Amino acid sequence: MKNIHLTPEPRTDLVQAMLKKPLEAKMFIGGEWCEAAGGQWLTTVDPATGQEIGRFPEAASEDVDRAVVAAAEAQPRWAETPPAERARILWRIAELMEAHIDELSELESLDQGKPLYVARWAEVLGAIAQFRFFAGQATAIEGKTIRPSITYQPEGKRVEAWTYREPVGVVAAIVPWNSPLVLTAMKLAPALAAGCAVCLKPAEDTSLSALRLAQLMQEAGLPDGVLNVVTGLGPKAGALLAAHHGIDKVAFTGSTETGRAIVESSKGNLKRVSLELGGKSPVILLEDADLTLAIKGAANAIFFNAGQVCVAGSRAYVHRSIYDRVLEGLATEANSLTLGHGLNPVTQMGPLVSVKQAERVSGFIERARQGGATVVAGGERLGPIGTFIQPTIIADVKPDMEIVREEVFGPVLVVQRFEDLDEVVAAANDSKYGLAASVWTESLSAAHRLSRRIKAGTIWINTHSMYDASLPIGGIKQSGYGRDSGIEALDNYLETKTVCAVL
Ligand code: NAI
Ligand code: MG
Repeated sequence: MKNIHLTPEPRTDLVQAMLKKPLEAKMFIGGEWCEAAGGQWLTTVDPATGQEIGRFPEAASEDVDRAVVAAAEAQPRWAETPPAERARILWRIAELMEAHIDELSELESLDQGKPLYVARWAEVLGAIAQFRFFAGQATAIEGKTIRPSITYQPEGKRVEAWTYREPVGVVAAIVPWNSPLVLTAMKLAPALAAGCAVCLKPAEDTSLSALRLAQLMQEAGLPDGVLNVVTGLGPKAGALLAAHHGIDKVAFTGSTETGRAIVESSKGNLKRVSLELGGKSPVILLEDADLTLAIKGAANAIFFNAGQVCVAGSRAYVHRSIYDRVLEGLATEANSLTLGHGLNPVTQMGPLVSVKQAERVSGFIERARQGGATVVAGGERLGPIGTFIQPTIIADVKPDMEIVREEVFGPVLVVQRFEDLDEVVAAANDSKYGLAASVWTESLSAAHRLSRRIKAGTIWINTHSMYDASLPIGGIKQSGYGRDSGIEALDNYLETKTVCAVL
């Protein structure tokens, strides 16, 4: 069994202090830093060791109500703020995040478990890019002019019509724990650019970075009440927000199951809902794939962030002519990764976010084993509190097995072989999910054909999990609806008003 490098080596004062004494963080409502009205607290731990590193308020009904009222009061003024001023504040948020990049990255790494380089490059820089991109969009929101074909206008008059794009109002942003900062920014940046006010509910395992971000947003000059952060439990604070009649829209990222619960809760006032949910994304290696690129790419598609990625490439389909080579290559990649604390410089893969998640993932592996699958690499749970899962490769599966069909959300790849394109398209599409897919080939024609035929919100060619603030991301089927990131994300936060005039 390989050694796990458990010693954290933080450099920033904030995180060094948190390892000595848990941070006490407050919620952010109407520009005030406050405790929960009922005086309840939740704790958060370092997932590598189980050490308590912070506590934060547990919001209940009264706190949620206060946050919604604060947002509703602030929203009309924010909507009337000149777009260039909104843009300036969003840009300033990005600058302040950049100035605090070491601290934000270390904080996220400690609370979530991810390696520092992942926190820095994929999370903090990704979040900064969202604020910059939507700063640019704030001044570019436009309606249309329309020439209707109406013929019954009074003699000598003309009908003219046009549209306004107006903010939807008060948004509840409910985000998960796998990539807290970037997923939060994917909702806050377009919502604020559009003129909405937000009540943010971060995930209970990773609330600290959202609270630190809120401090920076306050410092950037965001008016009181435009952003409120209510920390608390999903089924309590989260569910209260989803059902609240003062909320006009819920923007959610998380599991498909919770997405369904949110749709149920939203029915009372028919609030708008956008959902970025689970996936079981196929990674397809064709006969002519560049294998040096494809094997490393497929390994990275599943092991990056320990597989806790909504678009993780968790089902590999490999052409039979290269199957043995690829399987061996993937096992070599899996066995070569260094496990450790996110804040240890040698770490390539950290722990999962919680004991609960590690138990869940190892349950999937065990049931696959019992069902007759072969664990080609990894498969074991390690570490002082059992939160590390070895990078795992599973073969000899059948298409109806749980491990092939369900989202594991851990470092677990199932590998299957195929003979021809029709077969692999059918297998890739045989899923309730449709979030992402990647195709690895040197054939331009095959790449184009497959990107048309595979049912998913994003198709990557010779890469996987490649993001940019300009690229829409989201799913079809039970992976959700609506798109985050990219210009289309603004549609989540805008309503179209039609004006029709006889002139
Ligand atoms: P979750 O989807 O329940 O949690 C995401 C967010 O929703 C958190 O902020 C949570 O507090 C909130 N939430 C939970 N229940 C809620 C409710 N009834 N109403 C409103 N908000 C609610 O995910 P969880 O339970 O942490 O993880 C379980 C599984 O979900 C994972 O093993 C993974 O398979 C999947 N998952 C998928 C994600 C994705 O991006 N595809 C992200 C997180 C989890
Ligand atoms: Mg934590």
